[in-house]
Parts: sequence; C-alpha cells; structure tokens
Amino acid sequence: MDWGMHNRMSRIFKEDGRTVMLAVDHGYFLGAVSRLEEPGKTIAPLIPYVDSLMITRGILRNCVEAAGGIPVVLRVSGGNSILGDDLSNEGIMVSIQEAIRLNVSAVALSIYVGSKYEHQTLTNLAKLIDQAQDYGIPVLAVTAVGKELAKRDAHYLSLSCRIAAELGAQIVKTYYCEDFEKVVKSCPVPLVIAGGPKLKKEEDALEMAYSALSCGAKGVDMGRNIWQSRWPIAMVSAIRQIVHDKATAKKACDLFHHLQNNPKPAK
Ligand code: 5RP
Repeated sequence: MDWGMHNRMSRIFKEDGRTVMLAVDHGYFLGAVSRLEEPGKTIAPLIPYVDSLMITRGILRNCVEAAGGIPVVLRVSGGNSILGDDLSNEGIMVSIQEAIRLNVSAVALSIYVGSKYEHQTLTNLAKLIDQAQDYGIPVLAVTAVGKELAKRDAHYLSLSCRIAAELGAQIVKTYYCEDFEKVVKSCPVPLVIAGGPKLKKEEDALEMAYSALSCGAKGVDMGRNIWQSRWPIAMVSAIRQIVHDKATAKKACDLFHHLQNNPKPAK
C-alpha cells in the first residue's frame, strides 16, 4: 500500500486494526434530524471517545474545531432528500481538491445496489476511487438501502459489500444482519457497521455491536444509537470497550449502566 494511503488508513484503524467511527452525516438528506439540530453541541463532547468522524463538509467547516485533530471521513455523495422520489438518486457533491483541502483521512459515498439508480451510484463509486487513489485517499463505500430497511439480509448485504470491494473501496460500511459472518467472509476489505435507526434499548445496540465484531467486523460507524441515546457518553464508552477492549456485550452493558448512574465529567 502506498505510504499516504497506509498513513490515512492507520489514522482511522488503530493499532489493533479496529475503529470507532462516529457517524454525524445524516443531515445531508435528513436535514436537522433529532438530537443533531445543533451539531456542534452533540459532536464536541463525543470527540474524545471516537477515532474519527463521518461528516459532511458543511458541518465540518462550521461546527468542528479545526485544531482538534480528529480524523475525518468526509461524506461526498448526496443530492437527494427524504422528500424526494428516490433516495438512491445520488451524485458526487464534493471535489477531490476540497477533500484534500480539508485534510481528510477518507472519503465516503453511498451505493444503492438493486435500486433504480444502481448503475449511477456504482459509477460514482468507481469515479471517486479513481480520483482518490491519485492522492492516496481511502474510499469508504456505504451499502445504503434508503427507505427499504427490510433489504438488510445477508444475501443482499453480501452482494453489495462484495461489489463495493470489487470496484476498489478500501473500507465498506454496512448493516449488521443474521448470518453476518457470511457478509464478512465474502468481503476482502475491512467492514464497519452502521447502527441504523435508534433501537428501543441501548443494550440492544451494544449486543448488535458485539455480535458484528465477533463475526469479524473491524468496528462501528454508528450515529443514532449513540447520540440519540439519553446517555451518549455512556453509550460511546461502552461501544469503545467492545471494539478496542474486546469486552463482551454483558461487560459493555455493565459499563453503560454504571456510567448512566455515574456520568463522566466532560473531557
Ligand atoms: C446512511 C448513512 C448515515 O447517514 C449514517 O452514517 C448512518 O449511521 P447510523 O445508521 O448508525 O445512524 O450512512 O446510509
């Protein structure tokens, strides 16, 4: 691997080869989603607990301290909204020069396999990889499902993840599902999982993260199940324990409960 590419990958994946990414890019098609109405207030207290931020350039420029040094995975696809006809109708919205200017560690883009705009989003991915490769910037492909959450099964996700890797993505972000080990086995690049919509109980999200890591995922790129929790710092600390300390779900739940009752002072 080229030095620059290797250097950027190691900003995201720590020495143990694992990562806790905080996804806060939701506004690119959802607008001011609940608990992310004032992004800076939600993001700042969580930064000390995560390895990178997945974020859009607008929120990065306006709401994140440039001198802070948190590695950035820049969301570059978009051009759709929750009100539009089809969420899969995305383009590349940020130039590679802008990504370099922002000193990002990776760029991220969604693909929608099996959708009306499948070809367009896969072409977007291939073009982005060609541009980013010239500068040693890794590309994270998100296997997005739009509003069709029921699509999240091993057969579909394995197909999407494998296509993303075949096209040259260095990292793939997908959903956890039953038989997740099949998805991991068939994808030759590191997989991280999204959390999806906020689950009823924090314990369920911790169980999901534990199961995904046990099946071979290299980390999480989680948003709503962290910052839509009433206890986001307790939640991110427990997730971190699963990812980097190889804690069981039970141990992480114990830590979460402890921090719920004894909140950490802000770092
Ligand atoms: C949608 C995305 C999201 O914007 C986000 O990153 C997902 O995070 P979570 O599901 O954990 O809230 O990638 O495809």
